[in-house]
Amino acid sequence: MKNSSSSKSLKSITKTNDHILTDKFINPAFVKNEIDYHYPVMISNITTILNNLTNIIEKFVYIDCTLGLGNHFINIYTNFKQYITKNILLDKDSDSINLTIDLLKQKKIISNDYIIINAKKENIKENVKENNKNKFYFINDNFKNLINYKELFNEEDTLVILADLGVSMYQIKNGSGFSFNSDTLLDMRYDKSQILTAYNVLNKYNQEELSNVFNKILSYKDTKRLIQAIIRYRQKQEIKTTQDLNKIISKVFSFKYLKDYLQKIYLALRIEVNNELNDLKLFLENLLKINNNFIAFIISYHSLEGKIIKNFLKSNNFKYIKEKPTKEEIKINKPSRSALLWIFANFDFSDLLLKL
Ligand SMILES: C[S@@+](CC[C@H](N)C(=O)[O-])C[C@H]1O[C@@H](n2cnc3c(N)ncnc32)[C@H](O)[C@@H]1O
Repeated sequence: MKNSSSSKSLKSITKTNDHILTDKFINPAFVKNEIDYHYPVMISNITTILNNLTNIIEKFVYIDCTLGLGNHFINIYTNFKQYITKNILLDKDSDSINLTIDLLKQKKIISNDYIIINAKKENIKENVKENNKNKFYFINDNFKNLINYKELFNEEDTLVILADLGVSMYQIKNGSGFSFNSDTLLDMRYDKSQILTAYNVLNKYNQEELSNVFNKILSYKDTKRLIQAIIRYRQKQEIKTTQDLNKIISKVFSFKYLKDYLQKIYLALRIEVNNELNDLKLFLENLLKINNNFIAFIISYHSLEGKIIKNFLKSNNFKYIKEKPTKEEIKINKPSRSALLWIFANFDFSDLLLKL
């Protein structure tokens, strides 16, 4: 941290923000027109805080735990590149990483100054030790393993950590069975090298296992009815596609509430296939092992994620704030409607919250 005498007065920070927000930050409405653009949820809340952060520190390492197609990263990198010493960019999904690398090359954000680390294929420790001087690291790994890459940062580095949880628009549109509006095989894996798919869950899980999947989200009674219908269906034929699953669901639940049930059941399956809740818990626990100063931004989309984050923050005495998207943001980016942005740090960050 810069010493406090060099930090600007509260009034001047506010003024600086006003100027930068209008003149310097990318206008999301403009960028939204680009093909396949996924609006980075609550980006202006994040950039406002980062702008305040750059009033008190000179440099930071940016860690994007859920790179997706890089929309948060592109926005943050474009606005703060003079402050960022290293970009550590993770995703479980290797297709997303490869696509994003191509996109970033097209946009001339990267050239050949990057390293790709594939956790399944490489000796991470060796690779990280030998290559810790690069600017961009694309890491195909689960964010619960972030701690394995700690050799990429120096002791004195401040870390800005972002995790935008769940599934990306690219993955939803890519026909992997995430959406009940599609007619595709029931896959739902972020990491295509793992064995468990939604097909396996629906066709191979026994009654008790199925109950553990769905009772997280559905009532006891609804879970029981759904499981009975799944078992009845699979006695005759396999549940292969989203349309097979939709047929089962529409027989059990009334048309009036069907969309709500479809959403909940698809969410429960996605959580199971990708082990989302356990990975989130481990990710948070592992943050405690990081000795560097860090500020974390976590975007959650449903109450099961929210509960885990809140429990973690409370039981570890973190001060935190929780932000909701504005009505304007929800209007231009519908998927943000259920988002909550959790901001916490392992240092006193109250000065960074001005003008939020
Ligand atoms: C909501 S999208 C992120 C979108 C991104 N912020 C953007 O602006 O383009 C979530 C991404 O996180 C990835 N993901 C989900 N769980 C993960 C985990 N445990 N470890 C690493 N990546 C994960 C998914 O593959 C997906 O690409």
